[in-house]
Amino acid sequence: MKPDIIVTGKIFPVTQEKLDAAFACHKLYEAAERGAFLKPLAPRVRALATFGPAGADAALMDALPRLEIISNFGVGVDAIDLAAAKKRGVIVTNTPDVLNDCVADTAMALVLATLRRFPQSEGYLRSGYWATRGAYPLTTSVGGKTLGILGLGRIGEAIARRAAAFGMKIRYHNRTKKSVPYAYDPDAVVLAKHSDALMICTPGGAGTSRLVGAKVLDALGPQGYVFNIARGSVIDEPVLLRYLKEGKIAGAGLDVFDNEPKIDPEWFALENAVLFPHVGSATVETRTAMGDLQVENLRLHFAGKPVKTRVV
Ligand code: 8YV
Repeated sequence: MKPDIIVTGKIFPVTQEKLDAAFACHKLYEAAERGAFLKPLAPRVRALATFGPAGADAALMDALPRLEIISNFGVGVDAIDLAAAKKRGVIVTNTPDVLNDCVADTAMALVLATLRRFPQSEGYLRSGYWATRGAYPLTTSVGGKTLGILGLGRIGEAIARRAAAFGMKIRYHNRTKKSVPYAYDPDAVVLAKHSDALMICTPGGAGTSRLVGAKVLDALGPQGYVFNIARGSVIDEPVLLRYLKEGKIAGAGLDVFDNEPKIDPEWFALENAVLFPHVGSATVETRTAMGDLQVENLRLHFAGKPVKTRVV
């Protein structure tokens, strides 16, 4: 008999097929009423498969007293109450490393697109302005600029390697200094002061909430650019919107936002921002690898073996 598991959010179809092959999947996101859905499953469900924003809170864990493991699709586990999991002895796994390259590619695409205004210049051509108004206005070079990386983890390091290959100088801030060939700054404000462009690569969650607000953006200054491929929660979004409108910062390149996917409509009209709909890891290859790791962790656990990528 296949073990019963609960899937909290709509998952990549290739991964859902693999989950279906190994487990009896019960889809929480299709439930009309959460309590009525969970009650009959509570005596037999030992695992949750979570998907990004559809995480797991303490109430969900309480409703499943036999829960042993939460296997997340995604490296970020900010939507899972880790303290509650730890307290209940529930294992939490994520999908690190397999997405580093794609997310770092996305970060570099944002840097290039934002500084060089490539999406805007393409819009200019498509509007027929090239012939009527002349050449697109000059932009600013990427090479020679300093990129400050806030959170030099595995994704941050992959971005640093790419940015260095584009001729950028690299600095970083982390809780702990690392043995890397990049200059270290003691906090986000000092890093922003020393940088032309600030790239946010921290985890999300309470520890980094609104870390990049007025103080950091002031330090970056009116010639500075901010980038975020981490979580919308790390930026004070209303402040950033105001700074972009008032020209207190030169531009922003963002893959993540508050309230995804129903983001603040104020973003739509901003001409000095390049905005991606959270596509950092969104390739068939990477999403397949992420899903395989999610399924593998569940399989290992049910086989009584240690999981591969444990967070808690
Ligand atoms: C995914 C991500 O879009 O891994 C993460 O933490 O944010 C992205 O790779 C997300 O996990 C999908 O839910």
